[in-house]
Amino acid sequence: MTIGPPIEELHFSEEPDVNTVPGPNSERLIERQKQIDSSAVAYPNRVPIALKDAKGATVRDADGNVFLDFFAGIGVLNVGHANPYVLEGVHEQLDRYTHTVDFPTEARLDLIDKLDSIAPGNLSGNSRVIFGGPSGSDAIEGSIKLAKHNTGRHGMLGFEGAYHGTTSGALTLTAAKKYKAGYAPLLPDTVHAPYPAPSNDVGVEEALDAVARKFEDPYGGHETPAGIWVEPIQGEGGVVVPQNGFLKGLRDVADDNDAMLIFDEVQTGIGRTGKWFAADHFGVTPDAITMAKSLGGSGLPIGAMMYHEKFDTWGPGGHVGTFRGNVPAMVGGIRAIEYIEENGLLERAQTLGEQIRDRFDELAEDVTEITDVRGRGLFVGVEFRARGDSGELVEEIQRRCYENGVLVWSAGRGGNVLRMIPPLVITDRQTEVAMNVICEAIRSAVDPQ
Ligand SMILES: Cc1ncc(COP(=O)(O)O)c(C=O)c1O
Repeated sequence: MTIGPPIEELHFSEEPDVNTVPGPNSERLIERQKQIDSSAVAYPNRVPIALKDAKGATVRDADGNVFLDFFAGIGVLNVGHANPYVLEGVHEQLDRYTHTVDFPTEARLDLIDKLDSIAPGNLSGNSRVIFGGPSGSDAIEGSIKLAKHNTGRHGMLGFEGAYHGTTSGALTLTAAKKYKAGYAPLLPDTVHAPYPAPSNDVGVEEALDAVARKFEDPYGGHETPAGIWVEPIQGEGGVVVPQNGFLKGLRDVADDNDAMLIFDEVQTGIGRTGKWFAADHFGVTPDAITMAKSLGGSGLPIGAMMYHEKFDTWGPGGHVGTFRGNVPAMVGGIRAIEYIEENGLLERAQTLGEQIRDRFDELAEDVTEITDVRGRGLFVGVEFRARGDSGELVEEIQRRCYENGVLVWSAGRGGNVLRMIPPLVITDRQTEVAMNVICEAIRSAVDPQ
């Protein structure tokens, strides 16, 4: 049985349909926002768009312009905007009850079972799941508590280039100083080791050696970490895929030092990379996985951590949160996983991702500003040689894509990576059209006439 509707029927259209943007209604709403909303608002500064509605891999703005969405609500809408199969369950649940803290419900237990069934390695069949607050940052906070509780230590090891969120513990692990400036001191005894990446010329051996020293060097200058927090593919850091052996090596260091290995799959989880979890690409099983973003299927917020049952040592109330029983989001999560399974979207993400990367590789033969094309599945990054203010070129590409009806985003050090994270339900035709627009935007931005 295939769960419908098929992906071809999920969208407003196969192609973008934009007039001059921003249109008058978008401009009016953005102006109104400037008057009353927080000065911390950031996204409309880059892409001046006010949204009216969205379907599948398409979004419509307040003036009726239709865009192809290669951004997916920053990786939230893996099964597309307003997926009817997901929404049917969510709507039904909204009418029955929404909020249950952690009383048992069919939906809660079914989602826990579902997550266990798709968990990597020996987590499957041996996992526990905890829901805390609704965000990815909340899931990270839960993982920090779990690691402290199980090791009796409080130090943490994260990586340069990492992004783990904005609450105090998560922000401590986040690497970019721009997010931390003015908020120190954060959690003590936290260190950031190099993440082996093409952009920093750090090899696997060197990276693992640095990590091991943070644990084993008696003169290392800080408490031995309780755990290692790592994105198995860095997202905000620039869609950085670690070289082979790195994650396996981290597993060994964690085991040798009785520390927990935590994979932050908030951005890479639930099919984004063409596997349920990015961990599956590397054959490494972490002790815990944090997730949020696309977990709720429809965009309703839900954060969770899945961890090996041997670490389930905390007692009642060990980690809590008012919104740890968002049942419509749980129903959405189950249905999203079912939709991905039944429509073969993992395989599709791998195939489309390869096609997209091949097309960028071809472009890179002409466009020498492209220094790397990378990613897994529909998690795609194109790195550009820094030019002027380093994110300037990618910003220009993004603007040209927007003007021609495709939404893309940036990532990486100084914003020099073009990041594409379309919904997994994107069609062949939409992919082709969007790639035409993106490649033309790159060509014209690199060589403006
Ligand atoms: C890898 C990763 N971890 C954690 C977070 C934080 O999630 P949230 O913004 O929901 O707090 C993000 C957000 O982008 C992320 O990409």
